[in-house]
Amino acid sequence: MVKKVKILSTGSYLPPKVLTNFDLEKIVDTSDEWITTRTGIKERRIAEENVATSDLAVEAAKSCLEKINFSTEDIDTIIVATITPDMFFPSTACVVHKKLGSKNEPIAFDISAACSGFVYGLAIAESLLKLGKSKNLLLIAADTLSKFTNWKDRNTCVLFSDGAGAMLLTSVEDEKEEDAIVSTYMGANGNYDELLYVPAGGSKMPASIETVEKNLHTIFMSGKEVFKVAVTKMVEAAFKACELANISPQQIDLLIPHQANLRIINAVGERLGLEKEKIFVNVDKYGNMSASTVIVGLDEAISLGKVKKGSIVELVAFGGGFTWASAILKL
Ligand code: ACO
Repeated sequence: MVKKVKILSTGSYLPPKVLTNFDLEKIVDTSDEWITTRTGIKERRIAEENVATSDLAVEAAKSCLEKINFSTEDIDTIIVATITPDMFFPSTACVVHKKLGSKNEPIAFDISAACSGFVYGLAIAESLLKLGKSKNLLLIAADTLSKFTNWKDRNTCVLFSDGAGAMLLTSVEDEKEEDAIVSTYMGANGNYDELLYVPAGGSKMPASIETVEKNLHTIFMSGKEVFKVAVTKMVEAAFKACELANISPQQIDLLIPHQANLRIINAVGERLGLEKEKIFVNVDKYGNMSASTVIVGLDEAISLGKVKKGSIVELVAFGGGFTWASAILKL
């Protein structure tokens, strides 16, 4: 029997170190005015040198679990969405399992879908929970893009940042319960691979002195092209999840779009015909934390009382690959 999904808790963690646009003015040839008008970002969080992605993930997980006093022993699945894993293997999900210190042996794996990672993870979680393959699933999005940023490249270093968010989901069979995941949708097109990528470090171009000297372990991006496709695909994906949920965008109480750039967010909101109050924005404070932005946004929206019991929330994301994904949630 297909089960329903319930969201038990959410949590998030932002590293305490703040890097403002004024700080960046001292590092590269840029200005607070340029960054603010082109991106909407005023400041972002950066992890300390000795802090790995798993450390942010564990803090986000603890913030999620402690809210409802949920024991790590009862988690049977850990999924981490990240493109900045601690290492190639073991997966960051396995590292998180170790650091959480639970004695049980859950399913644990990472997913790589760049900025769409959390929403991809939600769709995977939905399948595992509804088919009864998992009962209590911890879905984490965590990234430390600052460690893969070329701090001499003003085209990229003003955009990216670090952070993590977590969601605890469970499956229920009670007929009276409403399904928290109303619809999910995912897509990708690998032909756009070189518009946004880290060229070296994998099997195609393993690390060498040359790759390090040429900064090929950092993010390369064609900003203008990314911008155009991001708007088109996020709008398409947002409409698709509504269609699958049998609702119109006007029925959404809050849209939480991937926080890459305020101009992308505004363009998406306009094309969906949504008033500004229904669009969640925190890119000004945190910049682009990749997969984490939507779950950090949801957790913040809940804490601020912008999402209440029964609210219909849409998540929509877009990222390297290119990948895109959307979900309609009923909280
Ligand atoms: N400070 C000052 N000047 C800069 C900076 C900077 N930080 N960065 C670029 N410039 C300069 C450029 O060199 C260029 O100068 P030139 O005209 O003398 O050559 C000028 O500003 C204009 O550059 P454009 O690329 O035309 O600027 P644009 O308006 O497209 O904005 C931006 C650039 C912000 C990168 C934009 O294209 C964008 O946001 N794209 C989306 C990228 C994105 O969000 N990627 C995230 C990953 S995907 C995702 O998460 C959705």
